[in-house]
Amino acid sequence: QAADDYQQMERASKFFAYQLRNHKKSAEVVDYLKGRGLSGEVVKQFQIGYAPDGWDDLLKSLAKDQGSREQLVDLKLVNRNDNGRYYDFFRDRVMFPIRDRRGRVVGFGGRILAGDGPKYLNSPETRIFHKGRELYGFYEVKQAHRNLEQVVIVEGYMDVVALAQAGIDFAVASLGTATTTEQLQMLFRATKRVTCCYDGDRAGRDAAWRALENALPLLTDGLELNFLFLPDGEDPDSLVRQEGAEAFTARLAKAQSFTQYFFNHLTESLDLTTDGGRAALLSQARPLIEKVASDYYREELLQELARLLRREVSQVASQVKQKPQHA
Ligand code: UTP
Ligand code: MN
Ligand code: MN
Ligand code: MN
Ligand code: MN
Repeated sequence: QAADDYQQMERASKFFAYQLRNHKKSAEVVDYLKGRGLSGEVVKQFQIGYAPDGWDDLLKSLAKDQGSREQLVDLKLVNRNDNGRYYDFFRDRVMFPIRDRRGRVVGFGGRILAGDGPKYLNSPETRIFHKGRELYGFYEVKQAHRNLEQVVIVEGYMDVVALAQAGIDFAVASLGTATTTEQLQMLFRATKRVTCCYDGDRAGRDAAWRALENALPLLTDGLELNFLFLPDGEDPDSLVRQEGAEAFTARLAKAQSFTQYFFNHLTESLDLTTDGGRAALLSQARPLIEKVASDYYREELLQELARLLRREVSQVASQVKQKPQHA
């Protein structure tokens, strides 16, 4: 069954890619992608496609019998309404196939071309698709690099693809959710340096802090986590198209280290010249520092914390629990 699920997903992806070239709306969709700065080459590399605007084009093309129709329902490519009618889940959308680390298509993201409706629709969870465990673009990044020096995590499909178009071919996206511990773990198995670069808006800033919290238990000595904050209203796609790859790369090189961001964030709304402000910092920083896996980073955080609290490092360290010793 499972092997057949992957085959069916690959067939769906090929179907969408074929429609992008051959559907009667092809010119319009291709114009849309060109308008977003994408070349045919990058579109091909990511196997970007088009889900037709009919009701059941994919269904008709892939469902050969009752069994394969139910399989498409299980894979959430097809819905069944209350009247027992079957119809395509994705209609009139630009399609981004999501591959697992082995390159198998496990889900899709679909962007609306125009009009009403949610901007992006994602495959719901299925027996082969678990959002928190996949990273859009990760397979492509690994294909492009034998030695992966660094990875950038962004929010959206278009951010990954636009960066690749600009030659920054080491970005992945965390599928519309907060970056999970599992996703960070996958990345840190493949590279030592990860930079979070989310949208320059409230949601993006919240996502950054959650990523930091999720990363604390994973950051062992030698791993590097950085944060690049973008100007208000920009995302990696808009910015790299506006500024070019060189400027974006320069921003990446100047990203904040996680320890810088840690204290910048925690002290944002505190007045450290008061006892109350310093006490608040200590109580907020302490449980987070206790989660840090790396001796090196614990030490660095403790030193900075002591400096901000105007205390001796040893005094601050004595208030923070030692990490559990492994036998
Ligand atoms: P954004 O809301 O930042 O997309 O969502 P965007 O930058 O405006 O989109 P473009 O550039 O106009 O195409 C970023 C990511 O969040 C998820 C998708 O994964 C998307 O790529 N998302 C967003 C959804 O799942 N659903 C939505 O309705 C919106
Ligand atoms: Mn490269
Ligand atoms: Mn956003
Ligand atoms: Mn965005
Ligand atoms: Mn965008």
